Amino acid sequence: MESLQKEVLYPKELIEKRVKELAADISRDYQGRELIVIGILKGAFIFMADLIRCLSIPCQVDFVRLASYGSGATSSGKVVMTKDIETSIKDREVLIVEDIVDSGLTLTFLVNWLQERNPRSIKVCAFLDKRARRKVDFEADYVGFTVDDGFIVGYGLDFNEKARFLPDICVIRE
Ligand code: IMP
Ligand code: MG
Repeated sequence: MESLQKEVLYPKELIEKRVKELAADISRDYQGRELIVIGILKGAFIFMADLIRCLSIPCQVDFVRLASYGSGATSSGKVVMTKDIETSIKDREVLIVEDIVDSGLTLTFLVNWLQERNPRSIKVCAFLDKRARRKVDFEADYVGFTVDDGFIVGYGLDFNEKARFLPDICVIRE
């Protein structure tokens, strides 16, 4: 941990403000409806916990665990599901919550996977978006911040399981 050189990109006050704005947008768009919020473990758990507490509409929650195996800052590009949802989403409004979109492979995989169960709608809320790194065409419906290339940690995001607990969003300095 001591050896991880990092710099704060978004301090917790700014994160809090942006989460409230996203929750207001989502609450407005889904007014009068009930959401099933599906978080992608592990990275999204902190953002999701903050986001749903700012919603003004009811929601249920569930989780999937997806991994694109690889270590450190590189992904293998092959997405594997190690835990599926446990709730029926047929005819329901689904909002996937993710920490960061990078290549777009993880979310493309999950959207396709969940579509098979015939939900009424599926949208994606990603707190961070590394747009420049897409390998497949993918647009999230709600994005907190767009970030440049660089490895991000904190607020749920890890580097080899380190630094998830940091309250600020930081970028690793090589
Ligand atoms: P994608 O499939 O390439 O879009 O990758 C998305 C997943 O890779 C996210 O769920 C993160 O777990 C991980 N990831 C991508 N970029 C970063 C980063 O900068 N920091 C931490 N995790 C990242
Ligand atoms: Mg993740």
